[in-house]
Amino acid sequence: MAATDDTAARPSRARRLLGALARWVLIVHAALLVAQPFIAGTMLDGRSADAQAWHLNIGMALPAIGFVQIIVTLLAWRLARWPQGAFTGSIAVWVLELAQFFIGYLGMPLAMHIPLGLLLVVAGVGMAYCYGYRAAPAQPGGSAQPARSADELTP
Ligand code: HEM
Repeated sequence: MAATDDTAARPSRARRLLGALARWVLIVHAALLVAQPFIAGTMLDGRSADAQAWHLNIGMALPAIGFVQIIVTLLAWRLARWPQGAFTGSIAVWVLELAQFFIGYLGMPLAMHIPLGLLLVVAGVGMAYCYGYRAAPAQPGGSAQPARSADELTP
């Protein structure tokens, strides 16, 4: 009954879609984080009147997409066997993003805002690399394996 076994082992369409969605949220989130220091540099150069508005708007969008990432990685962990770390890491990044937003918005010292911003860029890119690009979901036994394609990232 090899055909039946194959069918059972194949990821459902919903799981594949969930995995793809989680992956795209991680990547878009990381890309927005990477944009922030470049926009901040333009802002400090004073060469673009729009830079401050862009930094503020992306600064507002980041905690929003961070929250979406928490929901999507929770679903991916529970339903598509993604690693739990994608979910708990998303919570940590979101909390730091909220702090970062208020540090910037309230005009608190740049000595806090810039180092935390760099930490967030590293964390966001690291999460996208580890969970969005590289890692396969945990296997039923609990281990994770490197993945090669999007379709392989769901069980
Ligand atoms: C390495 C990354 C980042 C750098 C270098 C950076 C730098 C800056 C700088 C130089 C300012 C202007 C502060 C001032 O005029 O006193 C600023 C403001 C601000 N930043 Fe960032 N930032 C970064 C990341 C972020 C992130 C990730 C967020 C949001 C989660 C954020 C949210 C804000 C907000 C809301 C403001 C205030 C904008 C305004 O009042 O118009 N920043 N940032």
